[in-house]
Amino acid sequence: MLPTRRDLHFRLDPNLICTWRNADRKTTHFYNALSIFFPEGERFFIHSVRHYRDRISDPELQQAVTAFIGQEAMHGREHTEYNEAMQAAGLPVHALESIVTALLERLKRKLPAQMQLSTTIALEHLTAIIADALLNHPQWIDDADPNYRALWRWHALEETEHKAVAFDVYDRVFGRGTAAYLQRCTGLIGATALFWPLVLAFHLSLIRADRKAPRIRGWGDVVSMLWHPREGLFPNIARPWLDYFRRDFHPWDHDNRAQLERMAEWVAPIKISEPALVA
Ligand SMILES: [Fe+2]
Ligand SMILES: [Fe+2]
Repeated sequence: MLPTRRDLHFRLDPNLICTWRNADRKTTHFYNALSIFFPEGERFFIHSVRHYRDRISDPELQQAVTAFIGQEAMHGREHTEYNEAMQAAGLPVHALESIVTALLERLKRKLPAQMQLSTTIALEHLTAIIADALLNHPQWIDDADPNYRALWRWHALEETEHKAVAFDVYDRVFGRGTAAYLQRCTGLIGATALFWPLVLAFHLSLIRADRKAPRIRGWGDVVSMLWHPREGLFPNIARPWLDYFRRDFHPWDHDNRAQLERMAEWVAPIKISEPALVA
């Protein structure tokens, strides 16, 4: 299955940037914190995949790489606008983005290209399992503002659509030997250890900076959003996260292709401008 680059623009209402998720500031800021990582993170993904592009001879995978780059570039563009709305609302987003930029620049300088690609496929695994959890629990954002909701679902659907592309590049270039496997596992451990502490720190930083966020009320909702045994994000991604360490793991072992049929139902009616579909 080939991913499709969709040139969509979500016309987010900047006045809702702190409240778009059910008028609840604290949980809205969790999603907002994730958004801070995307523009720079996605440039890093593109950079590390592009490095190995010439080593791919399979024309279908080549096409998938082109679509992957196109999708990530569109995500970066939309999340840049999203993040600017946060900055305009007085949230310290530029400062937080500069932390992400500095970290990724350091990884580009210090890590060998294979480890950069391994980090990318690990982060793509994290985004794919978060996306799958979001798509499996429509109630998480059912009552959200329609444009913000459409943007998150579009991003989750496209992360699903291209979840195996960078992985397949790694697979073709480095194979399935022990060294490639160990480096892939190291990538996930490192990416997880960097990503979640930063997300949680950014989340707290946004809540602190939002003067209208209640000081006491709402923390229970945050804990429940993340840790509720059935409804929480972390319990829902724990198993699929672990599956990555199986020697023969492939992203499509989690076969959630059926979710992709929701693109028309969830994204198309909500937006915006007509999509300029470019295969
Ligand atoms: Fe993305
Ligand atoms: Fe991605």
